[in-house]
Amino acid sequence: MRRRFVVALGGAVLALGMAACSGEGAVGGGDTAGRQPTDLTIGVSMPTQTSERWIADGNAVKEKLTAKGYKVDLQYAGDDIPTQSQQIDQMITQGADVLVVAAIDGTALSGQLQAAAEAKIPVIAYDRLIRDSPNVDFYVSFDNYKVGVAQATALLVGLGLQGEDGGKGTAAGPFTIELFAGSLDDNNAHFFFDGAMDTLKPFLDRGTLRVASGQTKIEQVAILRWQQETAQKRMEDLLTSSYHDGARVDGVLSPYDGLSRGIITALQNAGYGSSGRTMPVVTGQDAEIASVKLINDGVQDSTIFKDTRLLAEQAVVAAEAFLKDSKPQANDTTTYDNGVKVVPAYLLPVQTVYKDDITPALVDSGYWTAEEVASGRAKG
Ligand code: BGC
Repeated sequence: MRRRFVVALGGAVLALGMAACSGEGAVGGGDTAGRQPTDLTIGVSMPTQTSERWIADGNAVKEKLTAKGYKVDLQYAGDDIPTQSQQIDQMITQGADVLVVAAIDGTALSGQLQAAAEAKIPVIAYDRLIRDSPNVDFYVSFDNYKVGVAQATALLVGLGLQGEDGGKGTAAGPFTIELFAGSLDDNNAHFFFDGAMDTLKPFLDRGTLRVASGQTKIEQVAILRWQQETAQKRMEDLLTSSYHDGARVDGVLSPYDGLSRGIITALQNAGYGSSGRTMPVVTGQDAEIASVKLINDGVQDSTIFKDTRLLAEQAVVAAEAFLKDSKPQANDTTTYDNGVKVVPAYLLPVQTVYKDDITPALVDSGYWTAEEVASGRAKG
């Protein structure tokens, strides 16, 4: 069985060594510590329900807080920036005691965060850093740079240029690839792309990998709002412009399963995956159920699993710390500069999932059932 590529953030060393660091920044309203959970409300602002992961995140945060007796105001913003701003404004005026926010546009919430600070409401940035504001008190996420490293590594492994153990692969190349990135207004998209490009650079420099379109800058390959249809259209355009003469695309770096599905549709419509034309190696992220099925069926090559249950748990731990007028514990106090300050963060490890990893990583851990993997649909 393939060895799982676990990015463990330096594993135990970091977990133990950094656990002592505590977050800086505002501490609660000061009047929440003595109050009962049933008296306290946590506003949870999520970007969209079009992607499974945010539904899972929202539900998990809500369930965990509700189980502890807190009131939860969970809102989804339909990937619309004004809607998210309004929802947060409303949470503030309705007296939220802590805010947990996964921003659509990481630079668009300074006004809301200022209002939160004036009302002494601590703000936890959830998965996506909120930029350009001094009023972000804590950040819970995964190691986003390492997500990008893991995606590029999966591409190299899929092409046979590298072994899963990091050693030399069995293939020599050269291979032709195309690159995709997420939404430019999402801070994570830059971390993913940087991690991926740092990993691919030696291969691109040597000519072992070649980007036929020549589009290698994040501005050229980014997909606004992480839209599947936009990714499909870009892949179709690339196939028309750079692969019309029978040239083959061997791999596609995709940073998110939704984009991967759009890319795969474009490739299939162009004849890949049938009549002896094998599918290119396509990467992903989030272990969305439709993509896990595609991996199981040998259509998509890999995804990056980020356990949203653990992230939700960390958000709850941080929220409770603020509510008890203390500071959440960070395990990273250097990486996430939001343009105004370095935000103390708690980062979780990520795991690459190839076909062989579906059962141990996703089914045995209860993330998806074997039936869901087979059908490609979440039972809900
Ligand atoms: C998240 C990814 C997700 C993407 C699109 C990013 O901010 O970190 O997990 O795939 O947004 O929703």
